[in-house]
Amino acid sequence: MFEALPEPKPDAILSLMTAFRADTRTEKMDLGVGIYKDSAGKTPVMRAVKSAEGRLLETQDTKAYVSPTGSAPFCAAMIEQVFGKDADTSRLRAVQSVGGSGALRILADLLKEGRPGAEIWISDPSWPNHVPLMKAAGYGLQNYPYYDAATGKVRIDDMLAALGNAAKGDIVLLHGCCHNPTGADLSLDEWNGIIDLLLEKDLFPFVDLAYQGFGDGLEEDAAAVRLLASRVPEMVVAASCSKNLGLYRERVGAAMLLGKSEEEATRAHARLGSVVRANYSMPPDHGANTTEIVMSDEGLNNDWREELETMRQRMVGLRQAFAEALRKRSNSERFDYIASQKGMFSRLPLNTEQIDALREDYAIYIVGDGRINVAGLPEDGLDTLADAICTVLAED
Ligand code: LMR
Repeated sequence: MFEALPEPKPDAILSLMTAFRADTRTEKMDLGVGIYKDSAGKTPVMRAVKSAEGRLLETQDTKAYVSPTGSAPFCAAMIEQVFGKDADTSRLRAVQSVGGSGALRILADLLKEGRPGAEIWISDPSWPNHVPLMKAAGYGLQNYPYYDAATGKVRIDDMLAALGNAAKGDIVLLHGCCHNPTGADLSLDEWNGIIDLLLEKDLFPFVDLAYQGFGDGLEEDAAAVRLLASRVPEMVVAASCSKNLGLYRERVGAAMLLGKSEEEATRAHARLGSVVRANYSMPPDHGANTTEIVMSDEGLNNDWREELETMRQRMVGLRQAFAEALRKRSNSERFDYIASQKGMFSRLPLNTEQIDALREDYAIYIVGDGRINVAGLPEDGLDTLADAICTVLAED
């Protein structure tokens, strides 16, 4: 049996996380895996989450099963967070998922049942796990060009041209905000152009929303999803609470759908419950229950929003300071794009040898495609970092 199994391909992000942990050099710098870090390099449990967990511990009086679709109040809170408090929820449904990745997978399975022949179009580049995840769900994959490394912006014309070649009924995976790995987001005008094409070609929007609150703000980062929901007949959204509630290991997310009609939405929701039941039966409770408390208590909710906003502003500040340090060290404006990109990630123009040299010679850990986690940038070490980057670039 097992002798027939091929060696798995190491995951680009998780293998870097393991290598960083094993590195004994004290000056090591982790710009790899996408977790938020404060100025002390820590990823603390958020204040409101800690309080809600305490409350949950005191008040929870049963661990009896909930259901494959999870907590209904949690799902309602997530619909409000993503689609807005004034949204018409009659055609919106949500299922509590095992993180954002779990939402991606169950939604992919659901869509496979709905349109078995459809292929999925993924941005080039994208989060590395999108590809194996969608392949595991049985999809044929296509790429659309996305990022212009020379300008740090989206190749909107090339993206539209590529999607223009999609077959009727194909699925398009879109990053709702804070594109991972580039930090280059579409403007609302560009979203409107994409939506025109989706409608014209009957393409199905599948949105990955993993970083709401890390770009321009909690409400602002949902603008694209809300625009889509106002214009397309049906769509799905995979939302994550890993980053904006710092619940990474608790695995909290929501698989959401907008149906053409109430009836179709209800049927798709029930079907999603069946997908879950056949897969892992039910989602874990703790993180979603904690989230529900944070969302429903006014004091905790305000405190969470405040802390999230502080985190966001810290990342914006780090972007500006890092772009400035690189401008000074390189005597050029070639890195200025970092200051205006959104969310947790940007990409540096480094090749594999340069990335290896940064890790081996300077203990600086960067994902193999040049992606850096902005929250991992060292406030007091930006000049040192800029120096190392410019040195390896010059040595090539
Ligand atoms: C990342 O992109 O670094 C995060 O989403 C963590 C992961 O699971 O890859």
